[in-house]
Amino acid sequence: MVKPRTQFICQNCGTAHSRWVGKCEGCGEWNTVVEEDPMGGIGSGPGKVPKKGRPVALTALSGEIEEAPRIHTGIAELDRATGGGFVRGSAVLIGGDPGIGKSTLLMQAAAALSRRGHRIIYVSGEEAVAQVRLRAQRLHAAETDVLLAAETNVEDILATVGEGKRPDLVIIDSIQTLWSDTAEAAPGTVTQVRTGVQAMIRFAKQTGAAMVLVGHVTKDGQIAGPRVVEHMVDAVMSFEGEGGHHFRILRAVKNRFGPTDEIGVFEMTGKGLREVPNPSELFLAGRDLGAPGTAVFAGMEGTRPVLVEIQALVAPSTLGTPRRAVVGWDPQRLSMVLAVLDAHCGVRLGSHDVYLNVAGGLRIAEPAADLAVAAALVSSLSGAVLPSDAVHFGEISLSGAVRPVAQAAARLKEARKLGFTRAVVPEIARGEQAEAGLTVQAVTHLATLVADIAASGVGRAKPKAVAGE
Ligand code: TYD
Ligand code: MG
Repeated sequence: MVKPRTQFICQNCGTAHSRWVGKCEGCGEWNTVVEEDPMGGIGSGPGKVPKKGRPVALTALSGEIEEAPRIHTGIAELDRATGGGFVRGSAVLIGGDPGIGKSTLLMQAAAALSRRGHRIIYVSGEEAVAQVRLRAQRLHAAETDVLLAAETNVEDILATVGEGKRPDLVIIDSIQTLWSDTAEAAPGTVTQVRTGVQAMIRFAKQTGAAMVLVGHVTKDGQIAGPRVVEHMVDAVMSFEGEGGHHFRILRAVKNRFGPTDEIGVFEMTGKGLREVPNPSELFLAGRDLGAPGTAVFAGMEGTRPVLVEIQALVAPSTLGTPRRAVVGWDPQRLSMVLAVLDAHCGVRLGSHDVYLNVAGGLRIAEPAADLAVAAALVSSLSGAVLPSDAVHFGEISLSGAVRPVAQAAARLKEARKLGFTRAVVPEIARGEQAEAGLTVQAVTHLATLVADIAASGVGRAKPKAVAGE
């Protein structure tokens, strides 16, 4: 009989190697590769008798579902981001920087669920009972029936949550503190975190309780510990916020039971997180009207329109290689817009530093922001102020053509609701103009927009040169 070859598996990313290596070729982590028997040890070695399998009952897809699979928290922004509440029997990982407000969010969610009659267990591995109580008092959650434990041992946690009536939701804060007797590695290591998370997921699947796991994020934005944890859970949410800003965004990165493009917006206050039902107002607050280099982008986050200010600063560079600094948008996309401005519109920024910022710390992934970005860049370069009552959206192709984007009507409607009267948009959106109730200026080519902006700046204070057409 041919002996199956042993494999060397990275405990972080799961990459298989044919020999032992110090550094994983898949993820670049050191000392994560461990020898594993591909047969899982079955039948190998003396005295090992393969266990005889026990047939499990097969069942039909249709049939009674005993209770609503989702648990609504009643916190609309949280329910929206999760796709309608926590799902029974599933595990959600919530990642975020330390201090961003994960524990606060989950304590508020726990309190809200408890008020609705659910049995909630909050297991804190990071903070002592007194600390958690203090936070609960601050959040007016102390009088609810949330059950609290300060514990880090996986077996003890499982014994605790498995006792008595089944909990509806279990919160583990955080997975980095979990340690199990069965794993031989030191607490906090990849193996320990993985073992702990596995045990928690198994509990959720077996009992039908929803499991919320908190995970810290490393400097490069990944959830600390093994990346495989992200594959094991049903949903991964990230809780984000910019330093210095008070609002926080809960975003689904992966969701087996819901959409991944919805966001929940909160504001951190002295009494915990407050929901922000209209994020546009927040992102547009404190706009610097009358300054060149700003354009309002009418964007979409999932099904919700969000208006946000795009700020650009273009200045002659003293460096050989000019700086390109972007906050909140894709740097590659900026390079593309700059190249199109150069090649098709005569706007040369090759010797200028370019800074681009999405106000308020929002992160935009939509190509629909191209037009607003281009407008802000040209406005900054020319010194021409864009009309303060106008929104922009549209995708720019490499030829300089302005392409239509999805959900134009929803974007226009939101703009009108917030008092905007003009929209600079791709041609196709014109049909939706009547509905929108705004003056729609359709642009088919970026060069037209550049010429318009440059012309509007003529005669103003300090107009800088735009090469123009
Ligand atoms: P926390 O939930 O402990 O963060 P995490 O669990 O993600 O590490 O929140 C930490 C910050 O939130 C802390 O700096 C204080 C602030 N905070 C408020 O501003 N208001 C509040 O009501 C609470 C509870 C916290
Ligand atoms: Mg915390």
